[in-house]
Amino acid sequence: MEIFKKISDMQAWSRDQRKAGKRIGLVPTMGYLHEGHLSLVRKAKADCDAVIVSIFVNPLQFGVGEDYEEYPRDLTRDCGLLEKEGVEAVFAPSVREMYPAGYSTTVEVSGDITARLCGASRPGHFRGVTTVVSKLFNICLPDIAYFGQKDAQQAMVLEKMVRELNFPLKIVRCPIVREADGLALSSRNVYLNEEERKSALVLSRSLALAREMIEKGETGVASVRGAMIEFIQSTPHTDIDYVEILNGEDLSDLAEIKGKVLIALAVRVGRTRLIDNLLLEV
Ligand code: PAF
Repeated sequence: MEIFKKISDMQAWSRDQRKAGKRIGLVPTMGYLHEGHLSLVRKAKADCDAVIVSIFVNPLQFGVGEDYEEYPRDLTRDCGLLEKEGVEAVFAPSVREMYPAGYSTTVEVSGDITARLCGASRPGHFRGVTTVVSKLFNICLPDIAYFGQKDAQQAMVLEKMVRELNFPLKIVRCPIVREADGLALSSRNVYLNEEERKSALVLSRSLALAREMIEKGETGVASVRGAMIEFIQSTPHTDIDYVEILNGEDLSDLAEIKGKVLIALAVRVGRTRLIDNLLLEV
């Protein structure tokens, strides 16, 4: 497995793969890999001839007071896991390599799709994501890029960016990977203490509650959202950032629960902000 730290080396390798007629799969990550990331890697390995995993904790997508400094990092462990998966290349640049002194170019998708949900509580977050992912696309030259459905809004924003900026690649979304008890895998789960880990189940359980209400015929956005909020508020160590039920195509408001529906929530459990979601066709 090749490990590249320099943009020019990564780009030259990707060009060679393309010249050799290989189909490149890219799995962008911020490292501290878990089974969720590895599920993306396995899908990329199944679809492509050469798989690149990028590992870069992107400062541009963290706001002031967020966890950029403490975000878990372990490149040696990550590379060990990726070697076992048969990944062809890892791209792990430094911050200075990606954003040299004087760097000032950003890429932004505007509208509801970035203004709502995580975009409302983390201003500038999606600009950071679309900027770094555009750079990764230009450096790694993928045919297909893989993203997890856990970050549903991120996947929607990136799909829109690829469409509107005509990036010559396809985005594949992969399903959320969960612990046996339902907690969605996240690198941030390591921040949770034992008590908070128990409370964190409220995210997947409130989504299960919503699904049950909808399956029984409930179509009112306010009643399902209200039941979720009440359930979360009865759980210790939790503080709701948002609970929303929106159009799953473009994050616009819904008059009733019908069609493609995204139920998404972000909850602070102790000091850890966790997200989860459910995409339904009703
Ligand atoms: O989902 C993530 O880990 C990050 O937002 C991404 C896509 C790697 C961009 O930094």
